[in-house]
Amino acid sequence: MSAEKKENDQSSPHMPIDRITPMIYQTSHGQQVLFFTITLGAVQYGYHTGELNTPQEAISKCRHKNDAAVVSWSLPPCLPMTDAMYSLVVAMLLAGGLLGALSASFFSDTFGRRRTLVLTNILLGSGSLIMTLAPTVSLLMAGRFLAGIGGGVVTVVVPAYIAECVPKASRGFFGTLNQLAIVTGIMVSQIIGMAVGWRWILVVGVGLAVLQLVLLPLCVESPRYLAVVGPANGKDRVGAASLAKQSLLRLRGPPLGAVEDEIEEWQRESGIVAPSPSTPLVARNNSVTLRRFLTGRQYRHPLLLIVLVQLSQQFSGINAVIFYSTSIMSTVFPDSSDRITVFISIINLVMTVVSAYLMDRSGRRTLFLVSSSAMACCSLLLGWSIQHGYTQTSTVAIVSFVAAFAIGLGPIPFLIIPELVDSSAVASAGSVGLASNMLMNFTVSAGFMGLREIIGQGQVFYVFAVILVTCSVLGWLYLPETKNKSADQIVRSGWAVERSSWWKPRDYSPL
Ligand code: GLC
Repeated sequence: MSAEKKENDQSSPHMPIDRITPMIYQTSHGQQVLFFTITLGAVQYGYHTGELNTPQEAISKCRHKNDAAVVSWSLPPCLPMTDAMYSLVVAMLLAGGLLGALSASFFSDTFGRRRTLVLTNILLGSGSLIMTLAPTVSLLMAGRFLAGIGGGVVTVVVPAYIAECVPKASRGFFGTLNQLAIVTGIMVSQIIGMAVGWRWILVVGVGLAVLQLVLLPLCVESPRYLAVVGPANGKDRVGAASLAKQSLLRLRGPPLGAVEDEIEEWQRESGIVAPSPSTPLVARNNSVTLRRFLTGRQYRHPLLLIVLVQLSQQFSGINAVIFYSTSIMSTVFPDSSDRITVFISIINLVMTVVSAYLMDRSGRRTLFLVSSSAMACCSLLLGWSIQHGYTQTSTVAIVSFVAAFAIGLGPIPFLIIPELVDSSAVASAGSVGLASNMLMNFTVSAGFMGLREIIGQGQVFYVFAVILVTCSVLGWLYLPETKNKSADQIVRSGWAVERSSWWKPRDYSPL
């Protein structure tokens, strides 16, 4: 890079966060709405995760015998069903999510991140509408399955889209926004659930989808997608590359030289031969298929790490607490368990904000290790206190359990995927990661109640503690620090982990 370019370069990937943030939000091209809009996808996934928790009684238990009847032009106030059936309705989100996550790589590499989100909102919106107007249990299920497909797609596309729009040095902060949005969605659904009837809770899902649909045209397409993956039809690849330049320029602002340098760096990392200064940037359809990602030797390492972080997140038992905290706490606090549930959501949100600020300072590896080992301790304490009926200790343990989750195991599994692979494999890696996430979420959510019956509620948390200790050890052995590194740098370092960073003093150097 020339001296003059360097001097003017206000958008280097190593720019401190307080300098890039205003630029991203204040460029005159409507970037204020970019991150708000993208993360609305994750808000919707969170909202659907939480929307059926509070109204279980109102939906499934009819007060009067004739309530369930469909009278012309009016919807039945309840849809009677057993608890097992209700769990099945709840789980439809994850079944749809699995399908959505698996197909996300195809859609987002073929149509681009932004257009995929448009399609996704059609699914989320129509799914929510069908649920809102459902006269029968099967239609409620069908709507939830449809919304689940959309939810699965957004969990893959949103973290990739965010990571592709922000400079390397602040990927941790912005990457955490995805989890922050999910947690916000969960909390909002629980609060709304306490205030209005169940059909009104469900119609909010339609509103959120419409809002994102309206805002998406104001956002730029991911510049990294345009530069590295390019449109699949290959009609106008030179055009795609120049669109990438325009898009990045709108995100970073001038000078153009710095923008071109960043695009060249992405293309080099993805194995695209850097064009000579006189030739225009050329995008090509460079995407890695799901099959190539699953079978390619070069992807074995990131594949195992992606599954490890997803497994740590889901088998930590977080959704046993998110879905069943009211029921868990009602055994120790019969009168105030629902308030504790909302309090837990608030702690989850606040600690995710803290995590956003720590992510680019402490790094992913440190936060992963702190979070998983702290959760293991809290899980042991929770199991022990539930078993012995110590109410206050149970409350402290469950709140600390969620706080420890929010610091690391909540956001890291999403934000680390685009850091472990280069852009051409991001969509496939996301599909595999999130499909495994949905499957494991389904297993824990569906299996928790049964296991609780068999071995006892306290003892289930001992099982989670053992899994968490195992994940901490595996993370300590194999998880590299990805903070401020490109996938290429991590591969070149041979996936080496710097174990000493665990006890080294914190790095206060500028981001
Ligand atoms: C993460 C998990 C999700 C969980 C949520 C709780 O987003 O993927 O399953 O419900 O955190 O905060």
